Amino acid sequence: MCGIIGYAGHRPAVPLVVEGLRRLEYRGYDSAGTAFVQGGEMRVVRAAGKLAALEEKLASCASATATSAIGHTRWATHGVPAERNAHPHCSNDRRIAIVHNGIIENYQELKADLLAKGYTFSSETDTEVLVNLISEGMKTQGSLLEAFAWALRQAHGAYAVCLKSVDEPDTLYAARMAAPLILGVGTGENYVASDIPAFLPYTRDVVFLEDGEVVMLTASAWKVLALEDLSPLEKPVRRIQWDMQAAQKGGFRHFMLKEIFEQPRVITDCLAGRVDGDTVVLRELESLPVPRRLHIVACGTSYHAGLWGRHLLEHWARVPVSVEIASEFRYRDALLLDAGDAVLVISQSGETADTLAALRIAREHGVPVIGLCNVVGSSIAREADAVIYTQAGPEISVASTKAMCSQMVMLALMSLAWARLRPAGEAGISPEDSAGIIDALRALPGMLDAALPDMHARAREISRAYADARNFFYLGRGHCFPLALEGALKLKELSYIHAEGYASGEMKHGPIALVDPSFPTFALALDDALFPKVKSNIVEVQARQGRIIALTNPGLDIAADDVWVVPALPAPLSAFMALPALQLFSYEVADYLGKDVDQPRNLAKSVTVE
Ligand code: AGP
Repeated sequence: MCGIIGYAGHRPAVPLVVEGLRRLEYRGYDSAGTAFVQGGEMRVVRAAGKLAALEEKLASCASATATSAIGHTRWATHGVPAERNAHPHCSNDRRIAIVHNGIIENYQELKADLLAKGYTFSSETDTEVLVNLISEGMKTQGSLLEAFAWALRQAHGAYAVCLKSVDEPDTLYAARMAAPLILGVGTGENYVASDIPAFLPYTRDVVFLEDGEVVMLTASAWKVLALEDLSPLEKPVRRIQWDMQAAQKGGFRHFMLKEIFEQPRVITDCLAGRVDGDTVVLRELESLPVPRRLHIVACGTSYHAGLWGRHLLEHWARVPVSVEIASEFRYRDALLLDAGDAVLVISQSGETADTLAALRIAREHGVPVIGLCNVVGSSIAREADAVIYTQAGPEISVASTKAMCSQMVMLALMSLAWARLRPAGEAGISPEDSAGIIDALRALPGMLDAALPDMHARAREISRAYADARNFFYLGRGHCFPLALEGALKLKELSYIHAEGYASGEMKHGPIALVDPSFPTFALALDDALFPKVKSNIVEVQARQGRIIALTNPGLDIAADDVWVVPALPAPLSAFMALPALQLFSYEVADYLGKDVDQPRNLAKSVTVE
């Protein structure tokens, strides 16, 4: 949820680190800073607010000769967003500085020990405790590396940390435990960072680090060691195929808009290598039997994808499914004890703390865990028994869009794959209908590509009339109910307008009391078996002077203040047309209101703490 970067090479380090931080800003951006050695002293420059504030400060600093530096962009967990709490943090003797992403859970005890030894602290952060603990370790351990490892072994919790020292100005030390950290291997230069886009313009060669690993890097060399005993570890170097365009805006106003328009390609990429003729081939699942029951656990948008996937898994594969929010699941003492159960954790980032905790609980219960993730080598991806990558490419915008689309495609493919494994007559979908769904999925990218420009224009047109609303209902039934929840979440997190997603049949049990002309409703009225029911719910809302936006399909008889027609698809695939419409509507409202679409207030792309 913060972003860290370290560089050792031949280029001016500080501008490069700042540029890397810019590509990590989606991980948190309430303050930023950098540290480098200049004239035998540690120079630390930090600023509250966005990266521009740091750049302004750096403009008056002499840093041109530094060819090694560390940097950090922060999303506060310990200590308010303020310069004093910004990273890097220095030891009292200013010999070492560190940047850190994560939470040291026992930092209070460690701090008490250090205070008793005369250390002083200028921040409320756990990070400043860690850097002084390393400094304390220098007194008893044989080297800076050993002091670094010694201190980390005492730290309980999550960290991705990078250290710079006056005494070893050309060497960086880094380590990870339950927080992402990746090594970038260049020519005459090396990087370590929270995520790949930070250094992708300079190298595609990366080493994914595991928990409990320490990195030592200079401009010309790198080594990975085990935290426990500093024994050297062999690590493969992987080549990343993403080009920088994939992490840049590509001509769109915002990453979010780019990623909405990427959804056709995402569907294509999801299908690649996974459908053979009219058969789904999911090699990732071949080692696991079709579960007797499936527990889906996720957060936010990924949770909504899971709710949608339940319809397909139950209807097509006949697998009973429960779907739970990870932060509830992890404290519910879940009864997963039945043999044959499985858990599916869905996470774009693969680093969401609550979802990762749910995975670990499931594994403690001896239940196989399938991870559905977008980030290769992420913690969830590595700890699951089987991992399916959604192959959606980097999702930079804090608001998740294409990731949900990719999750839904994979849930559909899982449902078809498991349906095929059912004994004849026990699946909820025939081989012929399954083939039809596969054909429809293959045609979907072209249909969506063609529909998106008009969909965007319609979203822009309608959004202007509702941007002044202070409250919104989103209504849907059946497989559209999760979409209603998702539409409401998008509007909330992007435009800060209160919005509630509701099962439309539930309105009469109280919520309809809220409806009046100032409380509009966005209703999903698609061409499926439940359309007549949704239509009558819309009439109930209109009878109370509620304004209605009805998202519907051609030829359906519906009256609303704004009727928004999108191309029809057989349910539940119609969701792939409704989802971008919901995303574009919230995008246009937020952009019209001048909100920071890619980095909404108070949010971070990956919530790696509770
Ligand atoms: C979605 O727009 C939000 N940014 C948020 O709800 C997100 O989906 C949630 O934090 C889960 O993230 P994950 O998929 O990376 O686990």
